[in-house]
Amino acid sequence: MKTIYMDNNATTQVAPEVLEAMLPYFSDLYGNPSSAHTFGGQVAHRIRDAREQVAHLLGASPEEIIFTSCGTESDSTAIRSALDTGDGKAHIVMSRVEHAAVKVLCGHLSKRGYRVTEIPVDKEGRLDMDRYRESLTPDTAIVSLMWANNETGVIFPVEQAAQMAKKRGILFHTDAVQSAGKIPIDLKNSAIDMLSISGHKLHAPKGIGVLYLRKGTRYAPFLIGGHQERGRRGGTENVASIIGLGKACELATAKMVEENTKVKKLRDRLEKEILARVPNSRVNGGGSERLPNTSNISFESVEGEAILLLMDEFGICASSGSACTSGSLQPSHVLRAMGVPFTMAHGSIRFSLSRYNAEQEIDEVVDKIPPIIEQLRSFSPFWKPEGQVCASGT
Ligand SMILES: Cc1ncc(COP(=O)(O)O)c(C=O)c1O
Repeated sequence: MKTIYMDNNATTQVAPEVLEAMLPYFSDLYGNPSSAHTFGGQVAHRIRDAREQVAHLLGASPEEIIFTSCGTESDSTAIRSALDTGDGKAHIVMSRVEHAAVKVLCGHLSKRGYRVTEIPVDKEGRLDMDRYRESLTPDTAIVSLMWANNETGVIFPVEQAAQMAKKRGILFHTDAVQSAGKIPIDLKNSAIDMLSISGHKLHAPKGIGVLYLRKGTRYAPFLIGGHQERGRRGGTENVASIIGLGKACELATAKMVEENTKVKKLRDRLEKEILARVPNSRVNGGGSERLPNTSNISFESVEGEAILLLMDEFGICASSGSACTSGSLQPSHVLRAMGVPFTMAHGSIRFSLSRYNAEQEIDEVVDKIPPIIEQLRSFSPFWKPEGQVCASGT
C-alpha cells in the first residue's frame, strides 16, 4: 500500500538533494571542523557555506546563525538567555497557543518564580493585540510568540508585535519552526531579536536546528563547553545535518514561491471538497491568514483518533487535534484556546502538505474521508441520523 503523507508539520521527508549533499560527511569527509589540519579545515569551510545558505533564507548575516540540535533547544536557549541576561526582570509574555517547546518551558519557569502571561486568541486563532500591548511591563524580560501555529497554520503578526516590544526595550523571540521555508522571512530590517527554526520541518534531517541571534543582542549560552559556534553553543557540530540544513534552505529559497503556490492550491482543493462532501465539518482558523500547507478540519461528533485509525488503513497519514492525557482524550490546548466547541474539537484532523504531494493524493483523500466520517457517526452517541447533534459538554 502506498503511503499518502499529509503530516508534514510533524516532520518532513528529507529531500533527495539534501541527502546527497550529506552523504560524504558520513564517509570521506569525517574530519572535526575544529581541527587544525586541512582535512578538518575543509569541513569547517563547508559549515561556513551552510551558515550562509541558512542566513540567506532568513535575510540574516551568517554571524547571526547559531546551529543547535533542534527547535526545542533553540526556543529554550532564547528564553533562558533573555532571563539570564535580563537584570533580574522576571516576566515572560507568550501566547496561549504556543508549542510545548515554549509552553511547557514557561510552565516550568513559572514554578521557579517567573511570572508568565499567556495572550489569548480569538475563535479564528488570531492574537489579541490589545491584551498583548497591555501585557508589556517594565519587568518583562522576553516576549516569545510563534510565527505560525503548528496545528492550525494561523500566522501571527510577529513583526508588529516585535516593534511594540522593541519600543519598550523588551527582547522578542519568535518560534518560526513552522514558517521557515513556507513563507518569506526577512530579518534585515526587522525588530525580531531571536528566531528558532528546525531542520526536520523543511526537508532536512531531524536533530538539527538554528537559533538566529540578532547582532548586538545580549546573550548567555545554554550549552557551555567548547568554543564551537563562537562560544555561543558548545558541542562538536552535527556536520552532516548542518550541511543538509544548508542545502534544504537553499532549495527553499529557490523554490518557495512556486512550490507554495502549488501546495496552497492542493490544500484549498482538499478543504473545499471535504467541506462540500461532509456535513457538519469546518476549517479551524479558516478565516485567518494561514500557512499555505496546513488545514485543520473538525468533523462534528466523531473522535479524531478514530478517524486517524481508519485513515491509516488506507495509508493516509495526518494528525489529530486531541491527545490522550491520563487515559482520556483531551482536545488540544490550541483548539480549546480558540473556543472550538467540544464536539468539534474532538474530531479535528490536521492535514499538512508538502512539495511532494500530488493532485491524485488529494483525490484519494477526499474520496476516503466521507465514508469514514459516516461510518464513525453511525456509532456516535452524539450524532443523530438526520444530522442533528445532541448537546454534549461545552
Ligand atoms: C511550532 C513548533 N515549535 C517547536 C517545535 C519543536 O521542534 P523540534 O522537534 O525540532 O524540537 C515544533 C515541532 O513540532 C513546532 O511545531
